[in-house]
Amino acid sequence: MKTVKILSACLFLVFWTSCTQESKTKGDPTIEQKVEALLSQMTLEEKVGQMNQISPSSDLTEVAELIKKGEVGSVLNLVDPKAINALQQVAMEETRLKIPLIVGRDVIHGFKTIFPIPLGQAASFNPELVEEGAHIAAIEASSQGVHWTFAPMIDIARDARWGRIAESLGEDTYLTSTLGAAMVRGFQGKDLSDPTSIAACPKHFVGYGAAESGKDYNSTFIPERTLRNVYLPSFKAAVDAGAATFMTSFNDNDGVPSTGNQFILKEVLRKEWNFNGFVVSDWASVTEMIAHGFAKDGKEAAMKAINAGVDMEMVSYSYVTYVKELLDEKKITMQTIDNAVRNILRIKMRLGLFENPYVDVDAPSVLYTAEHLQKAKEAAIESAILLKNDNGTLPLNETIRTIAVVGPLADAPHDQLGTWIFDGDKNYTQTPLKALQKEYGDKVRILYAPGLAYSRDVKTDGIAAAVQAARNADVVLAFVGEESILSGEAHSLADLNLQGAQSELIAAVAKTGKPVVTIVMAGRPLTIGRDADVSQAVLFNFHPGTMGGPAIADLLFGKAVPSGKLPVTFPKMVGQLPIYYSHNNTGRPYQGNETMLADIPLEAGQTSLGNTSFHLDAGAYPLYPFGYGLSYTTFSYANLNLSSDKLKATDTLTVSADITNTGKYDGTEIVQLYVQDCFGSVTRPVKELKDFTRIFLKSGETKTVTFTLPIQKLAYYNIDMDYVVEAGDFNLWVSQDSQKGLKASFVVE
Ligand code: BGC
Repeated sequence: MKTVKILSACLFLVFWTSCTQESKTKGDPTIEQKVEALLSQMTLEEKVGQMNQISPSSDLTEVAELIKKGEVGSVLNLVDPKAINALQQVAMEETRLKIPLIVGRDVIHGFKTIFPIPLGQAASFNPELVEEGAHIAAIEASSQGVHWTFAPMIDIARDARWGRIAESLGEDTYLTSTLGAAMVRGFQGKDLSDPTSIAACPKHFVGYGAAESGKDYNSTFIPERTLRNVYLPSFKAAVDAGAATFMTSFNDNDGVPSTGNQFILKEVLRKEWNFNGFVVSDWASVTEMIAHGFAKDGKEAAMKAINAGVDMEMVSYSYVTYVKELLDEKKITMQTIDNAVRNILRIKMRLGLFENPYVDVDAPSVLYTAEHLQKAKEAAIESAILLKNDNGTLPLNETIRTIAVVGPLADAPHDQLGTWIFDGDKNYTQTPLKALQKEYGDKVRILYAPGLAYSRDVKTDGIAAAVQAARNADVVLAFVGEESILSGEAHSLADLNLQGAQSELIAAVAKTGKPVVTIVMAGRPLTIGRDADVSQAVLFNFHPGTMGGPAIADLLFGKAVPSGKLPVTFPKMVGQLPIYYSHNNTGRPYQGNETMLADIPLEAGQTSLGNTSFHLDAGAYPLYPFGYGLSYTTFSYANLNLSSDKLKATDTLTVSADITNTGKYDGTEIVQLYVQDCFGSVTRPVKELKDFTRIFLKSGETKTVTFTLPIQKLAYYNIDMDYVVEAGDFNLWVSQDSQKGLKASFVVE
């Protein structure tokens, strides 16, 4: 096996790192001098205070006392601008060194104007839109005194049971890296010191999404090579995008909780990536190392977290309590404490907090502006994924006179916002029912009979009325899915069928013989095979946010054309999880039979039936693959062309293909580029996404899409844990999803 090593240090980095971006993480000399000057005046208590983040109780006088004593460097979960200013005033006027507080908040997919959940935004495959969404969130949040968001969440998530898949950008390393970096740029703006910028905090470092059995907080077992090839690149991309802070994750990976993990924090984050922002623990994840069985008490937990490089402790107070003792006992060093404080002060200075500590409470409101709502609508449109559309059921045309609107999600202003919307207000939500009535009520008669009150509802008395509405209509729009509380933190599920009697409702309205359009709003992929089977069309929306209603209404009536693609594989059955497209092949790759259960003869003797890696009952394929999504129009792919079929590791391959809009509607296609490294010093995934682009094509139009693929982008951590491109054979696909595509091959010499 010949290995082509890339020599220059810069080229060792994951491809999208550019040296320019890298320089953003180096310290600014003026700021460094100020940091040193301030640090030299600080007492130990003042230093440890900077490392302490608290979540204020309702009694702010108590908090003010702590700040006065210099025991607090940061607060989270305070969003009243007047209260923030009052506490800031204590820090700025009543403490010796006048170090401002940094105020953190979970601004995950919008502050007031709620965008689709991150998993939905990922379906847009649109970094510009994702960046704009994050920027809008920053504008709104900063206007209320927030300096710092605990986002983006860039955990690779391949198990839909895990409730936090909702917050993720899906299963794919490249897509997550690209969109996560876009979010960092959006939150932080052109310069952190801009008053509308907020510091980003990529989380949860690292591997949290691989929680065993999809149960939140559960252990992970990710070996170093997989960590480096799959789970770390999105965080590296966030550092390269200039992320100011990082958060450690709750999980223990192979026995080491992230909050005490010197390898990921010191070796990887600081030494390899030169990160010079600060690291915050997750909520009490320092002292949770006691429950993990990794520290016997708070003191040992503090020691392990500090020595690992966790600069700021979120809410569990062990730093303030034990640092002095730990120093006296020489279990930690003053140098470690000084470095932590430097990291924190550096970010406070870069944010301009020393010069502008206060929020202007009299400034005109920038919340829920028309422009923000319009962008949120665009994002909801681009996030919707058309999974099925038999006989051109959608868009609804002029032959439709009466529509039956059924299902518990048709008018659920709270639930369509999704998880992590601490500041979102359901009174601003525009639901599908309201939008249909408002925008299309003059064109069609709308019969509304929800059938069920909420997604888990098992009371079926209302279904008869829904069936009656269906009988009186030309088409049924069934709005089903999940309440927002069924996904997100601590909300994992073992059953991914539609909850409550929702499938019963769909089956009942389908029985009327009227075409059924099932519109799902959920926080995760669901096993909706049986519901799709009885529906003529399925439009899937990961919780679409404030403007979900108008977005869906426009999509249903063809004012907008769906373009979203799945950022995550949909399983047929929960038993297939974890399921993802970029798996390794095994020594017995699946041959393509769907299922085998019914084919096994009675009393069959022991055989190696099938001889391949699959489930007897589910086969090996998912319900819908990663990258899949239909449009109202159709696209054909032709003329795949490679600039060369023999390349060196330092070359760039140009790949082009002609994409034609072969249908009746104008539409946007997300063209995907996948590569397979056929043989390696270790086994390699069957394919990996390496690039994508969105193209708009008028009906009948053809465009040539060109990808430039630097061969360095095919580097990975190999058998020797070197980041290299290995010489050998490669396959490449230009395609509309991860299962199809035009295929070509090339060789790297
Ligand atoms: C979550 C983090 C969040 C933090 C602060 C924790 O429970 O895991 O994602 O940022 O709380 O709210």
